[in-house]
Amino acid sequence: MTAQLNPRGDVAVLVPAAGAGVRLGPGRPKALRLLAGEPLLVHAVRRLAAAPSVHTIVVAAPAAEVTAVRELLAPIAPVIVVAGGAERQASVAAALAAVPDGPTIVLVHDAARALTPPELVESVAAAVRDGRDAVIPVLPVVDTIKEVGAGEVVLGTVDRSALRAVQTPQGFRRAVLSAAHAVAGDPLTDDAGLVEKQGVTVSCVPGSEYALKITRPFDLALAEHLLAAFD
Ligand code: C5P
Repeated sequence: MTAQLNPRGDVAVLVPAAGAGVRLGPGRPKALRLLAGEPLLVHAVRRLAAAPSVHTIVVAAPAAEVTAVRELLAPIAPVIVVAGGAERQASVAAALAAVPDGPTIVLVHDAARALTPPELVESVAAAVRDGRDAVIPVLPVVDTIKEVGAGEVVLGTVDRSALRAVQTPQGFRRAVLSAAHAVAGDPLTDDAGLVEKQGVTVSCVPGSEYALKITRPFDLALAEHLLAAFD
């Protein structure tokens, strides 16, 4: 199967897109929910394919939707589609196993961050290329964060200046991500968490407001407005 974008690119992007999206309410798997008339996954893949460093994109689709997703994405970009797993981590592992020889940098990107600009993909990849093992895009936390216990009673206030909200794409030296997945234990919500457990240093680069994770109905409405206003 040839599913190459830029043959001179050094980046493979894994797109876990096999989640149900329960928090968006009943309906199709989240990656296939419509945003301005097109599935979230189509928006996400179009932007990834526009990043010049990207050599290969591997999508982990819901097992029942692999053929449908292949057909959906064929007109957008050459993409490899595999069946995802029960947990996000299993979906990432399935996608990682399908990366062909060549790319030395692997990015992991949630389909739900459908409006992520190609510039963010490039800046994460560039930081890995510059020698970092693992790179995450982050934004400062704007709200005050409290820790709460039983009965929603406040236990304490966290020092906000030391906190960051973490986005995707998260970037890794390919060997670092492969090694972390080879010994993965309990499922985590992001891939940087996996490599942290291996003692790998994870570095931050500035994230993008556009890389918001479309999780709840409000996010979908916000993304529609952003598309209409700025895209
Ligand atoms: O559930 P959550 O919002 O954290 O999912 C983040 C991303 O992981 C989504 O793009 C979702 O489709 C994907 N995912 C997956 N396989 C699963 C669960 C989630 O690919 N089993």
